[in-house]
Amino acid sequence: MSTNIAVLGAQWGDEGKGKIVDMLTPHFSAVARYQGGHNAGHTVYVQGKKFVLHLIPSGILHPGVTCIIGNGVVVDPQALFKEVDDLARMGVEVDGRLLVSEKAHVILPYHRELDVLSEARRGERKIGTTSRGIGPAYEDKIGRRGIRICDLLGDRQALAEEVRENVHARNQIIKESTLDWKPVFEQLVAHGDRLQPWVGDVSLYLAKARAEDRSVMFEGAQATLLDIDHGTYPFVTSSNASIGGVCTGLGVPPSAIGGVLGVAKAYTTRVGEGPLPTELSGALADRLREGGQEYGASTGRPRRCGWYDAVVVRYSARINGLDAIALTKLDVLDGLPEVHICTGYRTAKTVLTEFPADLRALSNAEPVYDTLPGWKSVTKGATRFEALPPEAQRYITRLEEVSGVPCAIISTGSDRAETIVRDGSVVHRWLSKELNVDDLRVG
Ligand code: IMP
Repeated sequence: MSTNIAVLGAQWGDEGKGKIVDMLTPHFSAVARYQGGHNAGHTVYVQGKKFVLHLIPSGILHPGVTCIIGNGVVVDPQALFKEVDDLARMGVEVDGRLLVSEKAHVILPYHRELDVLSEARRGERKIGTTSRGIGPAYEDKIGRRGIRICDLLGDRQALAEEVRENVHARNQIIKESTLDWKPVFEQLVAHGDRLQPWVGDVSLYLAKARAEDRSVMFEGAQATLLDIDHGTYPFVTSSNASIGGVCTGLGVPPSAIGGVLGVAKAYTTRVGEGPLPTELSGALADRLREGGQEYGASTGRPRRCGWYDAVVVRYSARINGLDAIALTKLDVLDGLPEVHICTGYRTAKTVLTEFPADLRALSNAEPVYDTLPGWKSVTKGATRFEALPPEAQRYITRLEEVSGVPCAIISTGSDRAETIVRDGSVVHRWLSKELNVDDLRVG
């Protein structure tokens, strides 16, 4: 049987985790999301059909795989219902395969409004959130006035009290606002009725899976540099996207995690505000944005683009204990005359080689680059490392050296089959089998 593994973002999100999770899913009995909400957007292409998943793990596209939404996730019931309905229209049924933690917190109808308001109040210092109400929902959770899914299914009187208190807190934030708690309560009761068949004890389910030797993949959303504790604070999301979130967001012990796969793009992107030390502008940025279709899967926003930053990935490797990297979108670099890898940040005083906590250290910093020759022939669709142009092989080898982590998987296109799984890599050990291209075509 396979080992339980975590698959998470090693940069600022949008690394292509959806494809990696999707191609590995047939080797697991369940896929579990541990944090975030419908701010995530995982795009998966299967036989030319495009699926964008926000809340439900992308494993749902594989019949027989259980998909879990853990307590660390914040759930907007309407967003979840929409996703379930959209999947049904595309022929994917979730009933009997979806498990939502009874402890997960609910994104309330006005959390979105609070998100937008908070951004407007920050003015120039805005975070650039996805406006999905994620931050305010987590604020209520930490403020101990949040409403959990189990509350929607339990004592109606108690729920009415909780909603009244929560709406009162909201009315104090939004001045001159007198939102009535009753319609909110009634809507939540209706949501509870629809959610009910999917709700359960995720920690218990995962403990049983372990006891029965059924392996699980833990799927991260957003990424390490967007982590509330380890990311570029305050330009982060409000959850622990890095490895610690697996334990707190699902109720599993650290010993349940047998391996950690970091997903990193062959270059770097970020949406929203905050530092991006290798950021490019002009024709080169446009070239990466268009080539990589770097537009938010959730919001459609154009992503900022830059060179691969090994300081960032090395930092992610340390925080998460990365065993290996899945390097994505290598083909987007095809045809560039040269490629760059950032190995440090030059400031007025020194060269930083570790990612700093205080972002002011980065304000006038210049990236220090290793410059390598590009490659003229295409990598798109390659399924063997040896089939890559020698310059692309060199780029990957150098990137491994400076990041300190081997690239076990290299994605060379959006389709499942456009993937290299390196010989002798840890992935084969995790899955207890030698993967080949046909394995990747499953589904
Ligand atoms: P929030 O999660 O909507 O509060 O947004 C906080 C920050 O995280 C913003 O910079 C967003 O652009 C970023 N963010 C949230 N979700 C994603 C994602 O799935 N991919 C990339 N960035 C994200």
